[in-house]
This record gives sequence, C-alpha cells and structure tokens, in this order.
Amino acid sequence: MQTHEIVRRFTEHFVKAGHTSVPSASLILDDPNLLFVNAGMVQFKPYFLGDVPAPYPRATSIQKCVRTGDIDEVGRTTRHNTFFQMAGNFSFGDYFKAGAIEHAWNLVTGDLASGGFGFDPDRIWVTVYQDDDEAIALWKKIAGLPEERIQRRGGKDNYWDMGVPGPGGPCSEIYYDRGPEYGREGGPEADEDRYLEIWNLVFMQDERGELSPKLGHPPVGTLPSKNIDTGMGVERVAYLLQGVANVYETDLVRPVIAQAEALSGRRYGASPEDDTRFRVIADHARSGVMIIGDGVTPSNEGRGYVLRRLLRRIVRSARLLGVTQPVLRAFAEVVRDEMSPTYPELVTDFERISAVVEAEEEAFLSTLTAGSRIFDSAVAETKKAGGLVLPGDRAFQLHDTYGFPIDLTLEMAAEQGLEVDQDRFTALMQEQRSRAKADAASRKVGHGDASVYRAVLDNHGITEFLGYTDLAAEGTIVGLLVDGQPVPAAPEGSSVEVVLNRTPFYAEAGGQQADTGELRSGSFTIRVDDVQSPVAGLRVHRGVVTNGTATVDSPVVAEIDVARRASISRAHTGTHLVHAGVRGALGTSAAQAGSLNAPGRLRFDFTSPSGAVTPTQLAEVEGEINAVLQQNREVEAYETSMDEAKRLGAMMLFGEKYGDRVRVVDMGDYSRELCGGTHVGRTGEIGLIKVLSEGSIGSGVRRVEALVGLDAFDHMSKEHLLVSQLAEQLKAKPEDLPERINGLVERLRDAERDLEKHRAEAVLASAGTLAEQAEDLDGVSVVAVEAPAGLGGNDLRNLASDVRGRLGSKPGVVALFSTDGAKVAFVVATTAAARDKGLAAGTLIPAFAPAVGGRGGGKPDLAQGGGTDPSGVGAAIQKLREAVRG
Ligand code: SER
Repeated sequence: MQTHEIVRRFTEHFVKAGHTSVPSASLILDDPNLLFVNAGMVQFKPYFLGDVPAPYPRATSIQKCVRTGDIDEVGRTTRHNTFFQMAGNFSFGDYFKAGAIEHAWNLVTGDLASGGFGFDPDRIWVTVYQDDDEAIALWKKIAGLPEERIQRRGGKDNYWDMGVPGPGGPCSEIYYDRGPEYGREGGPEADEDRYLEIWNLVFMQDERGELSPKLGHPPVGTLPSKNIDTGMGVERVAYLLQGVANVYETDLVRPVIAQAEALSGRRYGASPEDDTRFRVIADHARSGVMIIGDGVTPSNEGRGYVLRRLLRRIVRSARLLGVTQPVLRAFAEVVRDEMSPTYPELVTDFERISAVVEAEEEAFLSTLTAGSRIFDSAVAETKKAGGLVLPGDRAFQLHDTYGFPIDLTLEMAAEQGLEVDQDRFTALMQEQRSRAKADAASRKVGHGDASVYRAVLDNHGITEFLGYTDLAAEGTIVGLLVDGQPVPAAPEGSSVEVVLNRTPFYAEAGGQQADTGELRSGSFTIRVDDVQSPVAGLRVHRGVVTNGTATVDSPVVAEIDVARRASISRAHTGTHLVHAGVRGALGTSAAQAGSLNAPGRLRFDFTSPSGAVTPTQLAEVEGEINAVLQQNREVEAYETSMDEAKRLGAMMLFGEKYGDRVRVVDMGDYSRELCGGTHVGRTGEIGLIKVLSEGSIGSGVRRVEALVGLDAFDHMSKEHLLVSQLAEQLKAKPEDLPERINGLVERLRDAERDLEKHRAEAVLASAGTLAEQAEDLDGVSVVAVEAPAGLGGNDLRNLASDVRGRLGSKPGVVALFSTDGAKVAFVVATTAAARDKGLAAGTLIPAFAPAVGGRGGGKPDLAQGGGTDPSGVGAAIQKLREAVRG
C-alpha cells in the first residue's frame, strides 16, 4: 500500500468517526522549547492544557515531524530518521481510553476492502503503563487480545510527555510481530526490532512539572479534562505494508536513493560505507526540503544551523560517493515529486526552496575550499609537532568561522589518520552556548514559569481584547503579580503585572510593539510600560503603581497612549505595503521572515534567495507604495475561515499558527495578509513612507527599514535642510550639487597629484648633493647619510637609486636614513661593481640595523628596513662603514 493511501485511509477512518481533519502545522511553531514540531499533538497543546477552548471535540491530522536528536546515527543504521510523518487522532475531553483503543484496533486490523490496514490480529501485541488495569481490561474486551500479548512496562517506555513541563499521561503502544527472522520471541519487552511499535495511544490526563513522571516523579497537576493524543508512525506502517525491510526502501524514500545512484553511478546495497551515504542523503533531503518549505533558511544558530548541517551532510555524502557537481536541487526535485500530493505547497514554493538549497550548496563549496586550507595547515602543524590529535580550538574555528560541522572535521581528520580534541571543542561550544543563553535571558519576555499565568487563565478565562475598536475601556483587575507571585495589593512604587478581564492594550506580537498607557481607578494609577502574552489568550500589563495602592478586583479605566498607538499602526500598515511591494518586485520567492512595527518606523525582513533588491527596484517599490497611500484605500480587517483566506490569496507567515478562524487585513488587490495587528483605517492616514535602507542581515535574509508619517517627513526635511546648506556653501543649485562636488573632488585629486610630483622632484633634487658627499673607503665610494626627515620607503628607494646612478661604474654603496618621529626608515643600494666585490645590500643591513632598533632585508642590489630608535642613526652609519671596510 502506497504511503499516500495509508494517510488517506487514516484520515478517512477518523473523519467518518466524527473527527475534524486538521492540516499539519508548520514544522516551526512558536514554542520556545521546541526546535521543530516533533509530534502531532504539539499544535493542540493549548487545548490539552485548557488555555484555549478546543474548537472541536475530536481532531485528526497527519503531522510532518522533525527530530534531530540523533542526527549522527542517521544512515549508519536503517532505524533512525530525522523526518517522519505522524498520523494522529485527538480527543479533547471527549472519548477516552475505550474510544482510543477501539478506533485504533479497527483501523489496524480492519480488512483492506473496508478501508483498514489489514494487519493480522494474531500478530499484534500491546504494552500498557505498569498499573493501568483499566487499559488491559479494555484491550481484552474490545480487541479480544489474550493476556500473553499484553505487556506491562514502566514509565520510561509507557509514560509520554513532551520532555518539558506540559501535558502528559500514561500510554499504551501497539506493536506488530515481524516474525522470527527478525529476532527473539517474547514480545516488545524482549525485542523491539522484531516487535515493531506502530502506534502510541497517550491517555493525556496529567500536567508534568520540571521533573518527568517517566522517571517516577509525580505529576504537578491534573489536566482540566481527560484527553486522547495518539501518534502512528506513517513510514513504519508503510514499510510493513509494502513488505520491505525498512523506511529507506519505501515508495517515498527509495526514489531519493535512486537519484543518488543515478548521479554517482554507484549502487545502493553494494558497500556498507556507500549505503550510509545513500541513507544520509535520502533522509536529510526529505527533512531539509520540508524545513525550508516552512520558511527556515540556513544560518549558524538554532533551526538554521540544523538545516545547514543537514544540507552540508548531503553535499559531503555525495562527494564521498564521487559526485562533485551540485546535487541539492536534483534531490529537492525528487522530494518535491514524492511529497507534494500531501504537501502541495512544495510545488508552489519550489522556486524559493531550490534557490535556498542552491545558494547554500554554493556557499558550502566555497567554504569547503577556504576551510580545507585552514584544515590542511592545522593538519600539517599537528603532524610536524609529532601529534596525533587536532586541537579543539582549530575544530571550533573551522566550525565557527567556516561553518564546518564537527562531524565533517572528524571525518576529514580520520582520513588523515588524526583524532580531534573533542573535549576542548565541546567546551568551546558550551561557552558559546552559555553566551547565547545569557543573551536570550536578558531579553524581556521570559519563558520562565508559566503556571502562575495559567492559574489566572484557569480562574478568569482569556482577556477580551477591545483594542481593534476602543482606545480606552473599563475593566477589572483579575490578576495582580509582584515578582511573578500573585498578591492582593501592591503599594505605590511597586513593579507589577496586571491582568484585566478586558483591555484595549495590544500585547507585543507579530512584530508589533506593545501599547503603553495607564490603568486608573479612583484610588490608584498604574503606568503601563509593556504588555506581553506569556500564555495564549492572556494579556499581561507590566508597569509601576505611580500612586495609591493597587488592589485585585478593582475596576479600572484602561487607556492607551493614543498617539503612540496611531504611530505604530501606521508602521504596521506600512509593513504590509512594503511586503506587497517587495513581493511585486522580486516575485513570490521573497517571503516575510520577521518584522518590527514601532512608533514611526518599521523593519521588514524577508528571505531573498535571488539576492539584493537593486536601488532602482527599491525606488520603484517606494514610489509604488506611496502612490497606494495617495489612493487612500480602505484598510479592512475581517475574520473568515482559513479556507476562504487561502482562496482570497491572503499572504501567510511561515511558522505562524492560525486557527480555524483567521483575521485578514485587506487593502483590496494590493495587499491581503493574515494579521492580528492594528492598522490605520485608510492608507492616506500614513501620509508618507520613506525607505531608508535595504541590506543583507544573514544568509539569504534581507532587511528593509523605513520611516512613516511625520517621522518620515522629519527625516526628509532634515535632509532637505542639509542639501540647502550645501547648495548655499557651494553656491550651486541643489540639482547641480552632484556635478559640482564631482568637479571639486577631481580638482582636489589633480592638486594632490601635482603636489606629490613636486615633492618627489624636491627629494630627487637632493641626489646630486648627496652623491657629492661620497667618501672613499678602501676603494668603495660610500654615501651613508641622513636624508631629509619624513621620507617614506618609496621616496627613499627612488633617492637611493638616483644617488647610486651618480656613482657611475665604480664600486659604490648608498645608505640613506630618514627619521619620522620615533621611527627610522633606511635603504641600502649597491652598484654592480660593489656587488662583484661581495657587497650585497641585503646582507649589509643586519650589520647596522640593530643600532636603530630595527631590522630589514632585501636583494643584493637594493634592501630596506625600519627601526624605532632615531638616536642611533649616527652609530648605524658608523657600523655600515665598518661593514664595507670589513
Ligand atoms: N505524542 C505521542 C508521541 O509523540 C503520541 O502522539 O508518541
């Protein structure tokens, strides 16, 4: 059964059973604890925790997942993968254990003709959490499983949580017995290769704290309701149903290997080393393409670094297979063709994806060349010193500066018969990580203990947001925190966090800065400096009690700083316009990668695999969006369904989690985007958008900065003033300034050239006088003198050559010194006849240079040097004389 059919059957089975089919979330969800989405339940986490009411009681999804924990094992075995798909069904307080077991059993063992997977029920085993008698009873009753094929296991195997505080619960896993040729009898407890886990049913009921119940620590709480989270490994089911040995042989993965075979001319299955390389390529090409598809670009940290490692390992593996031409695009094409039936965006986004991989491959190939040089010299040094271990500092330098993954350094070192000091390397990496962590911690949105906020949310529900329409509103303080702890009251001067039941204050999100303002009651005032949303649905005002004592349950009037908000809204609408303009100019491969909407100014970051926006394009974009301002278009915001938004062609951000209902901000056919921010009512309110700059901020990502409204006007009027002043000063019309300045610069250059010519002539004019000072030392004419001060090496050389020319064909030595502050420059020139007598300029220098605290060298006819002791010139001249005589 083809993988796409497996996925289709899964979805159909659960939709028939009343589940809403929810699309896979992006691999990049805004969860600080997760690099990539690694399970189907991640997008539903707020529903399990009860932070947000679930929009449906039952859901099913096919979630793309990336787990990069054991990237180094990938390829060496056939078991590890970084990319896989998890098919899941979820119940949010609806059915529980019995329902989960029944649904799974029917699909797994249901016959092929009626939409099931047709697994032989007699080869199915299950495991349950140690004391879960209820699950055992249900497996017997619903599935008719005999006691011998139900095994109890401990928390390590049969308790599931996300590895961090959050939802969790005991689980029950379904295994398929592949038969005696794959291993020992005795069920999953005895052999997990023979008994292959295909499906995990989690009975999600607990809230896990810092320590995991997997290790026996009690959960810190109970979830508001009993839920179900299941995950079936699509690729595993695929290889069982396709009768092949492992995931690399399945219909969606084998074609990538086939492409590598075609490019390299080698065969999969012929040698263990090559097989590892084939598998690395197949796995990484899949995860790499899917990750780029979700908007990540290669970089040196976080997700971007993982992506970079994946892509570089592919290139490196291909090279080890003997392929030297670029390969990434070819592999990406195969992944696109195999995966697009489930992920159609791989087709529409392919131009962008392939541009990213091509740019990365090109960068890596030049890195390889540059880094290989560093590597070679490190190897040479190590070997010369008789060592067998490459220093960790060099490995770190290769990693940090040249982007060499450590495994690449290890591999290359091994080829040279060397090891790498990995302890030192790890220590340096650790240091770097601590620095990054400290940096993140110093930013204001702590991801610390969210349980306090969650408690407020549990007791009082979400904060109603009124700020799309109201700039001031009455609300009640439902949560008051000092130092992160709930308090009944906070006196004047306290730094507080305040939660209201309703508020017009916008919490920082989507690049838009928070509102500031005041919360006032009859007896106290709180100045609000910042607003954040540490858990979904809650808005937390941060500020200071400026008079009176703030108390919980007090009614307040919440009023935002209207001018600031208006200015931020102008910037936010401006960002949408810049986004639309840039996409119009560069095409759809330019995708938003981040933004800032601050009072009066905006920043728009976008991926641009195709490179810079040219100054002409930028000027055109600026002109175009200012024309849109003048059209005074209405900026409409409305809620609609995700499907409708897609139909309308609304732009969506990668990594953003959008629910069923989405908010669209619409400026007619020019710009239409999903957005939760605040905007102006009509484009004319923005007044003016002035683009300041465009430039690269990292691999493939570019940034446009702009000013809006009066800030843009102020900037332009300042520039105008500057131009007027220049025009006045240069007595030219503003439009003639460039030409006038060009003229001035040219004249200055000519004058400098003349001056230089005169100076050089003046220097050479002294040559005659110097030559006349020649003294005869044992038949050699020697001119050893201090020339005028301040001559550089060039002047001294010319002068010395000129003097030497005047000494004719006799043996002659010229040594000139010139001081400049605390420095001395010197030059020695010899005639051919002197050289015949064995007097070489280069060898004369060491005889006298120490006298001026210096050194130098050169050829027999001309040598030069410098020193730091001008007081020694006389002594140096003496030494030179002696050397000529000697
Ligand atoms: N969350 C569970 C897992 O990842 C089941 O979906 O295994």
